[in-house]
Amino acid sequence: MTMIPHSKPSLGQDDIRAATEILRSGQIAEGPIVGQFERGMAAYIGVQGGVAVSSGTVALELALRAMGVGHGDNVILPSYVCSAPWLAVQRVGAQARIVDIDPTTYNLDPQKVRKARTSRTRAVIVPHLFGLPADLTALQSLGIPLIEDCAQTLGATEQGRAVGSVGLLTVCSFYATKLLCTGEGGMVLSNDDALLERVRALREYDQAPSLNAAAFNCKMTDLQAAIGVSQLNQLGEFLEKRAALAAVYHESLPVELFAPPAVPAGRTHVYYRFIVRLQQGALSSDECTAYLSRMAHRGLQCRKPVFRPLHRYLELPDFPASDEADDVAISLPIYPSLSEDQVRLASQILQEELR
Ligand SMILES: Cc1ncc(COP(=O)(O)O)c(C=O)c1O
Repeated sequence: MTMIPHSKPSLGQDDIRAATEILRSGQIAEGPIVGQFERGMAAYIGVQGGVAVSSGTVALELALRAMGVGHGDNVILPSYVCSAPWLAVQRVGAQARIVDIDPTTYNLDPQKVRKARTSRTRAVIVPHLFGLPADLTALQSLGIPLIEDCAQTLGATEQGRAVGSVGLLTVCSFYATKLLCTGEGGMVLSNDDALLERVRALREYDQAPSLNAAAFNCKMTDLQAAIGVSQLNQLGEFLEKRAALAAVYHESLPVELFAPPAVPAGRTHVYYRFIVRLQQGALSSDECTAYLSRMAHRGLQCRKPVFRPLHRYLELPDFPASDEADDVAISLPIYPSLSEDQVRLASQILQEELR
């Protein structure tokens, strides 16, 4: 039986060569290749500059710190996302205001953001989930500084604008199974040099004129950055492969049983994840676990797209769209090394085991 894992890093000879060169050079800590990766990412996204750090979670924290967000402030974020944005807000001592998502796209609902806003709101963290841009136009019109979270989406556009190029600050994650990986790693990007300088000062504990209690060791290494540069060179191919695999899922899965979230006009999707909403009605949590485990027995690893929405951890009421997503959405394997035949097999198993 062939196993089809849910996610897999896309590492090849180019990445191995790039990492080997760094090992041979002996310069394995932070050095010139980190700068090269920062410039490459900034050019790709279309902003002035970037500061590479040790993870996407750290990137979120340093973005907030650079903006001066702290005690007494609040930051708006969606419930339906991993816990990293919430943790970053906790780390800087601000309050998280958690809002519901748009039920059709699973991204942040701008109307909910507008209602949650207070005089102490300093920022909105806008995750572009699963490869689909959030409604940046509507969010931008609210006039609150946006931190775009591009951990799951690079290379997509909203009204012709690249994700990551719109917010005051943008964060990326380069975790092993992301669109572009360095093992662990992240970056803060912006057009605002002063903010980037603050992030740069926060990622390094030494070499400053005075002690800064907020600074820490949040650096990326040249070994990671070399893999990042090599991956960035391949990102276009990776995205083409993902689009081709998504087209096969679209052809093979009946929408009356497995409906993907909507891609609104003016937005492009890069399919970091292929999400479907099970149309047979909400499966109970036990039924969903049983369905996932029947598929795993057949060699197909599917997952819940978000481990647990934040409002469920925090026991907050009135999040119908996030509840629905948590109850009926599943994430199917999609990554560049997957073959179209494996996608057809996955689609067949999904249908056979849905009973
Ligand atoms: C939307 C989002 N934001 C932030 C993060 C955190 O990134 P990292 O795992 O690199 O800390 C992730 C990681 O999965 C993510 O999906």
